[in-house]
Amino acid sequence: MIELLKLATDPGQALINIKQKRGQQASYKFFGKDLFFISNWKTSQKILELEGAGKVGRNFLYNAKKPTFGDGLFNSHGETWANQRRMVQPFFSKNGIEQWEGVFVSESMKTVQSLTGLDQGSNVDMSLELKSLIQRILIGVMFGSDDYEYSVDQELISSIDIIVEGLFPSLLAETLGKGYLKHFFFLQNKRTDNAIRYFHSYVMERISTDNDGSLATLLAKTKDRSGCPMSQKLLLDEAITIFLAGQDSTVNTLIWFFYLIGQEETIYEKIESEINEIDGTIGFDAINKLNYTKAALYETMRLYPQALALARDTDQGIDIDGRYINPGSSLIISIYAMHRDPAVWANPFSFVPERFLEEQSEAQKGSFMPFGAGMHNCVGKYFAEAEMLIIIASIIKHVRLDISRKLILPKISITLKPGNLLTAIKR
Ligand code: HEM
Repeated sequence: MIELLKLATDPGQALINIKQKRGQQASYKFFGKDLFFISNWKTSQKILELEGAGKVGRNFLYNAKKPTFGDGLFNSHGETWANQRRMVQPFFSKNGIEQWEGVFVSESMKTVQSLTGLDQGSNVDMSLELKSLIQRILIGVMFGSDDYEYSVDQELISSIDIIVEGLFPSLLAETLGKGYLKHFFFLQNKRTDNAIRYFHSYVMERISTDNDGSLATLLAKTKDRSGCPMSQKLLLDEAITIFLAGQDSTVNTLIWFFYLIGQEETIYEKIESEINEIDGTIGFDAINKLNYTKAALYETMRLYPQALALARDTDQGIDIDGRYINPGSSLIISIYAMHRDPAVWANPFSFVPERFLEEQSEAQKGSFMPFGAGMHNCVGKYFAEAEMLIIIASIIKHVRLDISRKLILPKISITLKPGNLLTAIKR
């Protein structure tokens, strides 16, 4: 039981302890609820298949997330989710993301210009630079890249910050406190509500200017199979979802990436020399050639997956590998433990990009799920990968940074967030 309590203070280690002490399928009773932790890929796949068949879902989080996510993709279920996914996915497919290349490149170059403008020996707050860059990219994609006025709308930026920060306490209050804890977060909730109101009015204003090419306008024009457009309410929910799902996950991954390569000079240099081979603009064609850099990014996501676990529940009795799971149980797919399983990865705690250059074993392919898996896998996967590689390549090609080697531990949050700021000195 002590392993469960550790989930509140060090969730990654707790997931590893659960696997070590109770095996790859571990069940607990917690305040009358059955919890079932899975840390092997074959059983995880079965659960995700059961999700596809409608026997497993994520309903228990639905009410907790509803105030912030509404019926956005991250939260919705049934026909609403399927409809939304069909309408949103084309803008994030391998081909669909080509339309966002210009925003990725131009915003990355703005960060490069600001860094190259600094004096040699200046301190660089990498965490802040990366967060601001990702926010500008998401705003550019969502509201249009031809009009840069948005990037100076500080009220929009702080409302996005408040919404993203408000999610974790609101989830805690709703899930652990069954709604009662809500009163403790009264002020924060009020701030979140005001921020959401501002964000909604901003989206509405942008859509009304019919700014062709922005995701908000494209979504407003999309029709579902029956020829109906997305309702205004769903459009607003989806816009918020893109920021909630796409901001911190990407910022944190980039910070961990620079942190990890900053610890190992030889790895940094290999990445730098691969990137320096690129001639001209760093766009989609160029990043396709960055095999080692991409391997280092995957290795970052193996060590620091943004979702430590996928949580599901079942409202019907199900059979998993001959074990009966009661209705009302929660199923926790332990991504963190699978990513650090010594039976699957040699030296699982070490940062070894080379392992992603080799042919992966079946167990490695099945266990590696930084973007989730199954029907709810990350819709922004191709977007995030291309965005991160363009950012990494643009910065490393143009600016030489001595990244601080100060230890950074993860912080408790919804995502696997670095607990301190990452800094660097410009050479
Ligand atoms: C490094 C960056 C990212 C990581 C590691 C990541 C990870 C994930 C994971 C693990 C899930 C599955 C959650 C579950 O099954 O419960 C997910 C779902 C999702 N992600 Fe991402 N994500 C990233 C970036 C993005 C971006 C950039 C966007 C959008 C612009 C995005 C949008 C979504 C959405 C909408 C879902 C829900 C999909 C659904 O339920 O149908 N993500 N992501």
